[in-house]
Amino acid sequence: MKNILIIGLASMSLLSSCALIADKKDPGWEYAPQMYVSHPYEPYTQVEDNAINADGKNMRAPVEGTIARSGIGYDNTKLALMYNYPIHKDSLEMAARMLKNPLEATPANLEKGQYFYGKYCTPCHGAEGKGDGSVGQIYGGVPNYQASYIVNQPSGHIYHVITKGKGRMWAHGTQIRPEERWQIVMYVNKLRGYTGE
Ligand code: HEC
Repeated sequence: MKNILIIGLASMSLLSSCALIADKKDPGWEYAPQMYVSHPYEPYTQVEDNAINADGKNMRAPVEGTIARSGIGYDNTKLALMYNYPIHKDSLEMAARMLKNPLEATPANLEKGQYFYGKYCTPCHGAEGKGDGSVGQIYGGVPNYQASYIVNQPSGHIYHVITKGKGRMWAHGTQIRPEERWQIVMYVNKLRGYTGE
């Protein structure tokens, strides 16, 4: 009797083991799935169709026009407007090469650039960008935008410095929106007499 029971148990486990199941994706018999399948809908798991969302998925599809937060292999215009654009602080040359000002060079944009420059940059850099702002004089090391190593840098370089900071200058990416940073870049270009991209 005991032997029959053991044989019976052994053949049951053999039959239910994955080796005998043709479809490799079939998990076979699951023991007490309610122990690990969440009863509420979870965005990162999908066991059954979601009865509430129209497409049956737990995770909602991103709304139209959503911009991915990572990956740099796409449209530079979008990249230039991303809130957390993925270029490292030290990769200034890469930013200078990749980022293009997505805004049109209109008088209205330039005027806004002047306004934001006055708010965020004048204290250190001075109204004319000569590095002689009242804070800058005490802070020290603030360059003149007309210095040879700054004057011909592409707009992407200036944008990156504003966003991530450089050397003794702190990052402004969390205080100033991408569009406003590009408007500031336009005004800095005017101050340094730069007409390139
Ligand atoms: C607290 C003072 C301070 C503020 C505010 C500040 N900067 Fe600077 N900035 C500096 C200093 C200091 C440097 C020199 C950085 C270094 O190389 O160490 C610098 C450097 C720069 C450079 C030259 C970068 C290069 O290629 O070497 C640019 C362009 C610039 N700042 C733009 C701006 C703009 C635009 C703003 C406003 C959004 C701004 N800064 C706000 C202090 C400041």
